[in-house]
Amino acid sequence: MRPFYILFFILLQYCPFIQEKAVAQVAKMGNDDSLKMSWFADAKLGIFIHAGIYSVNGVSESWSFHNKEVPYTDYMNQLKGFTLKNYDPNQWANLIAQTGAKYAVVTTKHHDGVATYDTKLNDLSIVKATPAKKDLIAPLFSELRKRNIKCGAYFSLIDWSHPDYPGFLKDSSRYIVAKDTSKWEKFQHFFQGQINELSTKFNPDLFWFDGDWEHSASEWQSKKVRQGILSTNKNAIINGRLQGFGDYETPEQNFPVTRPKEKYWELCMTLNNNWGYRATDTQWKTPYEVITIFTDIVSNGGNLLLDIGPKEDGTFPKEVHQTLKELGDWNKRNGEAIFNTLGGIGQGHFYGPTTLSKDSTILYLFLQGQIYGSISLKGLQNKIKSISVVHNNMPLKYKVVGKISWSSIPGIVYIQVPPTVNDKYVTVLRIKLDGPARMYRGTGGL
Ligand code: GLC
Repeated sequence: MRPFYILFFILLQYCPFIQEKAVAQVAKMGNDDSLKMSWFADAKLGIFIHAGIYSVNGVSESWSFHNKEVPYTDYMNQLKGFTLKNYDPNQWANLIAQTGAKYAVVTTKHHDGVATYDTKLNDLSIVKATPAKKDLIAPLFSELRKRNIKCGAYFSLIDWSHPDYPGFLKDSSRYIVAKDTSKWEKFQHFFQGQINELSTKFNPDLFWFDGDWEHSASEWQSKKVRQGILSTNKNAIINGRLQGFGDYETPEQNFPVTRPKEKYWELCMTLNNNWGYRATDTQWKTPYEVITIFTDIVSNGGNLLLDIGPKEDGTFPKEVHQTLKELGDWNKRNGEAIFNTLGGIGQGHFYGPTTLSKDSTILYLFLQGQIYGSISLKGLQNKIKSISVVHNNMPLKYKVVGKISWSSIPGIVYIQVPPTVNDKYVTVLRIKLDGPARMYRGTGGL
């Protein structure tokens, strides 16, 4: 071993900061060859569920009291109105399954500190403190697992209701960590105990942390949290909100325009403008918008985690049912080009999203809106075996234009798409190639 490495390892023993950084690096590097990520990479679609007492008055989840839009006592009074009286985990699982989603992530505790499962670590849960008097998580995970849908637990590290947590309202905190380390240690014990409960009670396939921004990796003890989860389930996936100790990135609401560099990423997005149920929020995205956003994400190598919020009685608004059905029906017609695929070819070849089959011998083109006529594809070096429409297998005619016999630069493929083949939302074309796709990305010339 070279002296440099020996020095590095000695330092590592004594410096917790360096240790945490090094493990964060390892956590990141581990992704590259990690088998555990393969289901996630293939999944493409997950459904996010924000269930909580905020649905009673339809205020924004936790933030409404934190930002002083409503007094804390009024917010917590919603506990009395949370009944889940029509909660049917079987129906929830069916609703999720019919979309084609391969995983679901549900809130086990939001920043308001109200657990949606039977925590033994305090009394602030829908089991002990609301008329619902039941655990939302166990029966849902059981129904999801019957349908081979992976189960994710959203867990807020922030707990603005806990007396040992420093943060509370936007302009007032209970204490400062550096000045009351024993209080913070008590909180560490509490939140890590809850994570341990989630691991042992539900064995989630995915931990979806939130709120890591309020403290550092060493304050959260992110490394220990990660190791604790993996010691119970070495295949558990952890999202990227653990101050550097997660497995994938989680952009929120804001769509990437260029392809993110991270190998694994997931955009979480609300179906209207709020995570939880709010009767006043009628800004529903249309099925067309959801499907075009979804195809764009998959084309860029990511997953969509589409969020819905149940009402306090455990039912979903009709818009949720309608849009999820349309999305699911579209996936039934076109899922071949989505699930178990790879992100598509680089930008500039085709003016729309694309994906590739796992072996890259099939290229899929997504036509947004009612596009028909002569569709062009630039820079394809392969020979084409056939072109057809995914949803009805109709063969399509094509022509290669501008291929110069003595040049290696490919011509432009023009594909004839008759208006009659259009899908209601997004039509998908299947181009079978003579081998893995090879794309010319030069600037022309001889
Ligand atoms: C944000 C919000 C939170 C929401 C989450 C979902 O971090 O704090 O309310 O649950 O996004 O991604």
